[in-house]
Amino acid sequence: MPETLTITDNRTGKTYEVPIMKGTYPKYGSAIPAIALRDIKVDDEDFGLLTYDPGFTNTASCKSSVSFIDGERGILRYRGYPIQDLAANSTFLEVAYLILHGELPSESQLSEWTNNITNHTMLHENMKKFLGGFHHDAHPMGMVISTVAALGTFYPGARDIYNESDRREQIYRLTAKMPTIAAYAFRHSAGLHFAYPDNNLSYAGNFLNMLFKMTELNYKPDPVLEHALDVLFILHADHEQNCSASAMRAVGSSLPDPYVSVASAAAALWGPLHGGANEAVLRMLREIGSVDKIPAYIDRAKSGEFRLMGFGHRVYKNYDPRAKILREMAPQVFEITGKNPLIDIAKELERIALEDEYFVSRKLYPNVDFYSGIIYEAMGFPVAMFPVLFAIPRTVGWLAQWQEQLDDPDFRIARPRQVYTGEDERSYKPMNSR
Ligand code: CMC
Repeated sequence: MPETLTITDNRTGKTYEVPIMKGTYPKYGSAIPAIALRDIKVDDEDFGLLTYDPGFTNTASCKSSVSFIDGERGILRYRGYPIQDLAANSTFLEVAYLILHGELPSESQLSEWTNNITNHTMLHENMKKFLGGFHHDAHPMGMVISTVAALGTFYPGARDIYNESDRREQIYRLTAKMPTIAAYAFRHSAGLHFAYPDNNLSYAGNFLNMLFKMTELNYKPDPVLEHALDVLFILHADHEQNCSASAMRAVGSSLPDPYVSVASAAAALWGPLHGGANEAVLRMLREIGSVDKIPAYIDRAKSGEFRLMGFGHRVYKNYDPRAKILREMAPQVFEITGKNPLIDIAKELERIALEDEYFVSRKLYPNVDFYSGIIYEAMGFPVAMFPVLFAIPRTVGWLAQWQEQLDDPDFRIARPRQVYTGEDERSYKPMNSR
């Protein structure tokens, strides 16, 4: 079977043969190179055909081997491993290694990797002054985004992105310091002194330490909550070419340091249509208030007044596998924290929506943000911290996408085209004739 596409231009009657590229999964990984369409012209003056794809709904912006989603079947894999297996058997740092290096680490590789991350958790003391400049009510995500961007100024080698050892250092630093920045932002909002990292704790355990340590000499995280946070980090670590990963790649494509690229990816994550949805879900569940108000609320969403937050996804047209894991994990967390009453509203909202023709016909299912916020709230996180909790593990995914792009022989600066719909050239109008 020839791996080509024949296109006939009905304007000219000419036919063109375009190659078809294939990924690992023919069903999800076939594409034609858009540049091949440029040859399709009505005459020599013609610029040639472009593809038009607002929101990139059907455009492969890159080749990638980091993560894979089969949206129809509700499948997510990192480097080929199903998300359920990783969540059940691995720690976040193992998964981070897998995402960044392509393979699960051996015991010695994991120990070296853990050691490297642990040794980079401290922040330069000047960062405290920087964070101290924010108002007490500054949104923690705004603090995290600007602080991570500023962090690059502390490392002159950060811009030397084609130097392998410098690049590796920045990957350690960003993976290690994101929880520290996040915890400092949280404590600044709460008016608390900053708590230093404790290198004897796990990645998630140390994060809990930096958030919640008070006067005790050594903070001891609750093992159930530590594990739950670790699983939440695994579930959020990467998700192929979403809005923030695309921002990471687009900004990274002009070759700045990775700190500003991570800051821009985090900014893209913050909006309510992406990682800010977990915050919006909590506000929505609180607004609904009780189970009896759900049908009226759903009717308003169906009439187009607003969207049901935590529902629907560009790629998943089935239950988001991450939401399934969180739905099952919630009771374990509530056993320690006490039940978050919003879970009853969430489950009933899900039940009603999944039986409703509007949601069924549009294949709108709960996504990861639907249950994550309820768990975060039970663990003691204020709602404004939710997108920050998403950004910490996703930093690993952004870095893997960035690194993959830098090493890709097809790499070029991101510079899309447009279909110009404005005026053609016209004569300048002097002020007195406008
Ligand atoms: N509530 C009600 N209707 C919806 C919703 C929703 N949450 N999501 C989509 N629809 C409707 C939409 O109105 C449209 O209907 P119609 O065909 O009648 O015009 C249809 O479903 C298709 O929607 P779309 O806007 O074309 O879908 P999209 O792929 O452009 O948007 C989305 C995907 C995630 C932005 C959208 O589903 C949404 O706004 N969901 C709520 C926000 C949310 O939960 N975001 C978190 C995403 S998961 C975390 C992450 O990875 O970022």
